[in-house]
Order: sequence, then C-alpha cells, then structure tokens
Amino acid sequence: MVEEMTNQKITVALIGAGFIGELHAKNLARHADVALKYVVEPSEALGRKVADATGARWLSDAAEAYEDSSVEAVWIASPANTHTDFIRRAAKAGKAIFCEKPVGMNMEDVDVLVSELREYKQPILIGFNRRFDASHARLKEIVESGAIGEVEMVSITSRDPNPPPPAYMKATPGGIFYDTMIHDFDIARWVLGVEATEVYATASSHINGELNPDREYDAATATLKTTSGAVCQVSASRRAVYGYDQRIEVFGSKGMVQSQNHGKTNVKVYGADAIRTDPLKNFFIDRYADAYVREIDQFVGAVRGETTNFPNVWDGRQALHISMEALKSARSGSPVSLK
Ligand SMILES: NC(=O)c1ccc[n+]([C@@H]2O[C@H](COP(=O)([O-])OP(=O)(O)OC[C@H]3O[C@@H](n4cnc5c(N)ncnc54)[C@H](O)[C@@H]3O)[C@@H](O)[C@H]2O)c1
Repeated sequence: MVEEMTNQKITVALIGAGFIGELHAKNLARHADVALKYVVEPSEALGRKVADATGARWLSDAAEAYEDSSVEAVWIASPANTHTDFIRRAAKAGKAIFCEKPVGMNMEDVDVLVSELREYKQPILIGFNRRFDASHARLKEIVESGAIGEVEMVSITSRDPNPPPPAYMKATPGGIFYDTMIHDFDIARWVLGVEATEVYATASSHINGELNPDREYDAATATLKTTSGAVCQVSASRRAVYGYDQRIEVFGSKGMVQSQNHGKTNVKVYGADAIRTDPLKNFFIDRYADAYVREIDQFVGAVRGETTNFPNVWDGRQALHISMEALKSARSGSPVSLK
C-alpha cells in the first residue's frame, strides 16, 4: 500500500508552451513519475502542437487546470511577467509549484509574494536548472567537503553562442543581467552557501547591425562581495563564436576545483602541430539536457517530501535582486550595496 502511494504519478499542468515550455512538456511526458494532464497556452497552434506531442489536453486558459483537484502540481513556463501571479494562484489552490526563472519582474511584488508564502507547505522549485548539472553539482560537493579549504574566489564564465532575436533584446533592456546572469548569481550563492553583500558590474555593447540595432548590452561582468569574504566574478557574453561557454572555478586555501566546458564529444585528435577536440555543445538545450530531466526528478522528490534540496522562492528572490542591482551598478558605474 505504501509502495503504491509512493509510486503514484504526480499529475501536472504545464503553463506556457513556448520555447522552454515545449522542452519541459516533452521531458514531463517522458518522466515515469509524472502524468502531464494539461498544456495551458493561449496560442492554439502552439498549445495543440505541444499537447498532441505529449498526450496532454490543450487549454487556452489556466482556470480549469487550477480548479481540477486531480492536478497536484503546476509547471510554470510562461513569460516572466506572469510568474508572480501564477505562483500566487497555484499556492491558493494548494498545488506544488515549479516556476521558471525569474520569480517575477518587480521586486516589490516578489517581496509581497515571498511573505505571503511564508506558511505555505508545498514545494516551490524555481528553475535554476544549472544546479542540476552533474559537473556543477560535483563541484559543489567538493567545495562542501572542505577539499579545497577556505573558499577565497569563485570565477564563473557564462557566454552564449549568439544573442536572442533583436525584438527580444529590445523588449528586455539590460536583459543580460536579469535574463542570463541571474543563473550565474544563483550559482554563486549556491556554491558559496552565503549571501552577496555588494555588486559592482560593468557592461558594454559589441554586436551591432541587425542583430543588435539598439546596442543593448551584450557583454557584462559582475563582482560580488559576500558575507564570508569570498569574492565572486562573473563574465558573460551573448556572442561566443566557439559555442556555449559554461565554466565554474572555485579557488581556496588548499586548492582549486573547476567544472569545465562540455564538448559535443570527448574525442581528441593528436597531430604534429595541434591537438584538436570537437566544438563545445551549442547552447543550453544541449549542454543542460540532463539537468532539465534531473530538475524533474528533484521536483518529484520534493512533492513526495523526500527532499528540500532545491532552489526555492527565496533563492529566486535573491538572484533577481542581485541581477537588478547589478544592472543599476552597470548603468551608474558604482558598486551597489545588497544589504
Ligand atoms: N531555465 C532556463 O534554462 C530557461 C530557458 C529559457 C527560458 N527560460 C524562462 O522561461 C520563461 C519562458 O521563456 P520562453 O523562452 O519559453 O518564452 P516563450 O515566449 O517562447 O514562451 C512563453 C509562452 O507562454 C505563453 N503564454 C503567455 N501568456 C500566458 C498565459 N497567461 N498562460 C499560459 N501561457 C502563456 C506564450 O504564448 C508563449 O507560448 C521565461 O521566464 C524565461 O526566462 C528559462
């Protein structure tokens, strides 16, 4: 009987079947412990396509999914400005919640939400998928074991192969901070296990022409001071011609640990004048393919009360806060206190 309960599938409604929603829908539908019941998506063409591919039912609006008591969890992958509201509604309906980053776009709203959720017992997992990457998770384990001693510096390199479409760049001014580096700020807090106290950021624009007509920031750095005294540096770009560049290095009193880039294969060709490898994985969909699946594993564990080890709504709030203040720092040219 107990075994039957444990093995019961978790019934999920996915909200938003766009770029990342479609990927989540396919992973959810394949997952042994999940039954994907609804795909909620205002675009009928997209909604039907993803629902048909996953055996779910398409809904144009979330209300029916929220009212359905068989739906135990909602999986929110709609645009950022809908997240706070969808989380609030799901909490009121007593559902477990997965929500893509960012937890919201307005700090005041997010702070109200965080205080409203204080007594909420169901898990809320925020989609910081990089935490579920096996290499990054191993790096964190090594840091926590004390093998590299007291941590002094963390360096995070995070470069995309190409910028998002010009319309997206235009709609998200300064987005390199709150859309992409938000992941790096989360990684910094997660690896160090402490809070950032100050951020100093710089940003510039190098891509022009059709790809970036408004000269939005496409290269940025951020330096974080933290409560432990460790310093973290993030280097981000929207144009790494050699592929998706994702590295973390932690330097301590007894040594250093690195989580290195992943190539398309791990084959090396040794010649007289050079040693060659295959290019890097292209972007987050392939580099973090396994992490998106492990994210679902962890969510299932959280819903079953087996783990509390996941990025929660507070982590979502903190990473957003650092991102927003980093953007202010880049614009003003001055460090910003995060206390
Ligand atoms: N963790 C990651 O690796 C990762 C990667 C990409 C995107 N994201 C995040 O995921 C979110 C979605 O990004 P995207 O690139 O998939 O965007 P997208 O625009 O491709 O998809 C969003 C979808 O949500 C739908 N939508 C809009 N309003 C809705 C509503 N009220 N109810 C239900 N659906 C609604 C849109 O029609 C669209 O199809 C963003 O917050 C983004 O930052 C995270």
